Amino acid sequence: MSVFRVSVIRGDGIGPVVVREAIRVLEAVGDRFGLSFQFVDAPAGDAVQAETGEALPRESLQRIRGSDACLKGPVGETARDVIVLLRRELDLYANLRPAKTMKGIPSRYGNVDLLIVRENVEDVYRGVEDVGRDHAVSLAVYTRHGTERIARVACREALKRRRKVTVVDKANVLLSHRFFREVASEVIRSHGGIQLEFMYVDNAAYQLVVRPERFDVILTTNMFGDILSDEAAGVCGTLGVAPSANVGDAFGLFEPVHGSAPDIDPERANPTAMVLAGAMMLRWLGETKGVEAALRAAGAVERAVELVLAEGKVRTVDLGGGSIAREFCDAVIARLQD
Ligand code: NAI
Ligand code: MG
Repeated sequence: MSVFRVSVIRGDGIGPVVVREAIRVLEAVGDRFGLSFQFVDAPAGDAVQAETGEALPRESLQRIRGSDACLKGPVGETARDVIVLLRRELDLYANLRPAKTMKGIPSRYGNVDLLIVRENVEDVYRGVEDVGRDHAVSLAVYTRHGTERIARVACREALKRRRKVTVVDKANVLLSHRFFREVASEVIRSHGGIQLEFMYVDNAAYQLVVRPERFDVILTTNMFGDILSDEAAGVCGTLGVAPSANVGDAFGLFEPVHGSAPDIDPERANPTAMVLAGAMMLRWLGETKGVEAALRAAGAVERAVELVLAEGKVRTVDLGGGSIAREFCDAVIARLQD
């Protein structure tokens, strides 16, 4: 029996509900595949800040560091002090954000299957900022090291897929983006066997809406990746099903693309994105720790989710149904197969 120690940030708003449901699915799939999880709470977010004065207490950071992986629900207004900081602190330099049309999810498009590879620790999110009464500066920082390693991740992912990478930037206006494009393209060309194209971000935003099927891997900077991944989720139907992986060389943190959705009843949230983030975690644990059962468990969760969505009997509000998060995950658990 493989035991994984998973730190858990339940977060704010819909966070605690979708995390609770994702954990139920993980425990059920673990039982089937001989995996056991030790979930360790690492409180962080708006509520924790209100209570303790700190959005990410030291103790939580230590628990995360001491775990094999972190499962994170969305936090609210403290996103900067929690997730942006964690990405930097743990050097989770790659953010992988798949967007796929799925049966049962209404979308205007046919066959979208793309992956946004977002650089995750540089750019204007680096935190090099200065604000005075009459000025505000957020410095966009790109390094050769940071650009090369994210380009290598894009290549690695493209080779598992349709072998095409679109580098998205604003190189026509920003010298720093000309640098990003040049450094990234050197890496991609040196890999060979990968079709490389370039696109300015404004056109990419447009192409995502008019012809999203054309994309395979989109390699882009931190802020553009943040924005384009919500857009890609909308193109595929709903933010409620979009998962993401924040990975570095030594650690992985898995969360939905969406935020805490303060405008909806938490029990009525779509837990799919969080559940699929759990599946990404299983796959990453399987690959990095060499545990075959975790890879199979990841596939089982994904297939069960796809089945329940395709059947369309249990649908959350964002998909036009009336089911609550718990009912959706009950259906997923009932559909788990080896
Ligand atoms: P949001 O992603 O929370 O919500 C955008 C829209 O999508 C809303 O209409 C919401 O109801 C809907 N939505 C999102 N997830 C859903 C789900 N699972 N099921 C059904 N509907 C869903 O973005 P917003 O409103 O801009 O941000 C809300 C808060 O979340 C902010 O405080 C923001 O800072 C935080 N946030 C945190 C993130 C993180 O922890 N990584 C990421 C993005 C935002
Ligand atoms: Mg975002």
